[in-house]
Amino acid sequence: MSFIRVQGLKSLQGKIEIQGSKNAVLPIMAAALLHKGMAVIKNVPRIQDVFCMLEILKALGCSYQFEGHELTLDTRDLCSYKVPEREGRQMRSSVMLLGPLLGRLHQAWTCYPGGCVIGKRPIDLHLSALEKLGAKIEPKEDGIFVTGERLSGTDVHLLFPSVGATENVLMAGAAARGTTRIFGAAKEPEIQTLCDFLNRLGAKVCGIGTDVLTVEGKNTFQDVEFTVPGDRIVAGTYLGAVMAAGGEICLTGVPVRHMEGTLDVVRKTGCQVEAWGEEIRAFMRGRPLPVQVCTGPYPEFSTDLQSVMLSVAAVAEGNSQIQENVFEERFATGKELQKLGTQIIIKDRTAFVTGRYPLKGGEVYALDLRGGAALTVAGLAAEGESRIHGCFYICRGYEDICRDLSAVGARVSMEEE
Ligand code: EPZ
Repeated sequence: MSFIRVQGLKSLQGKIEIQGSKNAVLPIMAAALLHKGMAVIKNVPRIQDVFCMLEILKALGCSYQFEGHELTLDTRDLCSYKVPEREGRQMRSSVMLLGPLLGRLHQAWTCYPGGCVIGKRPIDLHLSALEKLGAKIEPKEDGIFVTGERLSGTDVHLLFPSVGATENVLMAGAAARGTTRIFGAAKEPEIQTLCDFLNRLGAKVCGIGTDVLTVEGKNTFQDVEFTVPGDRIVAGTYLGAVMAAGGEICLTGVPVRHMEGTLDVVRKTGCQVEAWGEEIRAFMRGRPLPVQVCTGPYPEFSTDLQSVMLSVAAVAEGNSQIQENVFEERFATGKELQKLGTQIIIKDRTAFVTGRYPLKGGEVYALDLRGGAALTVAGLAAEGESRIHGCFYICRGYEDICRDLSAVGARVSMEEE
């Protein structure tokens, strides 16, 4: 097992090239199954969840080449509809294969998906939407079997703008007969990117960026070449690092157009931010001002940056309030931050944090992907050495958080227990 060792209290200076987006590339890899052919996907991050998805696609009969950040997927020999259980349990994204497998093979089997322990994370919205398209859902003890000859496009109303459910319906609708309209669709940038990919594949998706998406079903698609945008959550994580540690950093390869809401919150902490094209410069002197933020579906502040903002609030000058409105159990990292001296009270869906500086170094445990990254950020503002255990969570979504933070002068390294 490995852990991240952090020597705190050194301000940051330098440049980080932001990796490709995990939450954009995973649905794109699943959507590639709709087409019997080749997909060349660029700027793919070398993260555990991508390797896990590749294992699943290989088990389904696909082949691939993954060199550097370029992935070539060959889906011509897709022959199985059964998502392997071991990989399926490792991440939530396995559920996203239901739509494309239904579209291509008219049947799909997957175990109940795994992933971070941040809430119940049911898949009822996915299943009821697929059923509306004509799929037959057969829940079994150890998984779900979904069948349906060519699905029929129809109107689908999502009771909550679920990212995954929107993605599943988009992919199933792309191969259905007729037109599917999704009302109450999620508007996250990753949805917009998936729509762009589906259109490049030969589908016809309209309403991109709105909460009403229209998909005209097709029965043939084409080879595609596509570049994944930068990861806005990884970029937000490193903005949290400079807010907590101080200094001046430059992030490149960033989808600035998708980060306006994030940058508004960053600026309110007293961090000076300049953003243009695909570059962000952030300059932080002294401690952050208190954080007042509510997470919510895009374009509200991302739930995936909630834990990072806990770490920023931990060293802010005053009392902060952070409300989590997407997942019902996403404050677990708060307890780990208390081991570094953070004063935090959780009441219902709100964290009340009294900032102090510096924190004190200690041993903490990553409990989920973004929580682990947040603990690393907190270590930058702690006196002495901190150790963050459970790095495998962090490696699921961050290509190399130690490489990136070391590039701006942080004293961090990943070591074996
Ligand atoms: C995606 O998860 C992301 N994961 C999450 O990022 C992100 O936090 C989340 O969207 C919200 O933005 C990927 O894209 C791989 P949801 P997803 O369906 O699709 C409830 C990270 O750290 N819900 O929008 O699972 C659910 O319980 C990860 O990168 C149902 O009730 O999120 C949650 O409370 C963590 N029934 C809320 O909706 C359903 O059928 C949002 O879930 C589906 C969801």
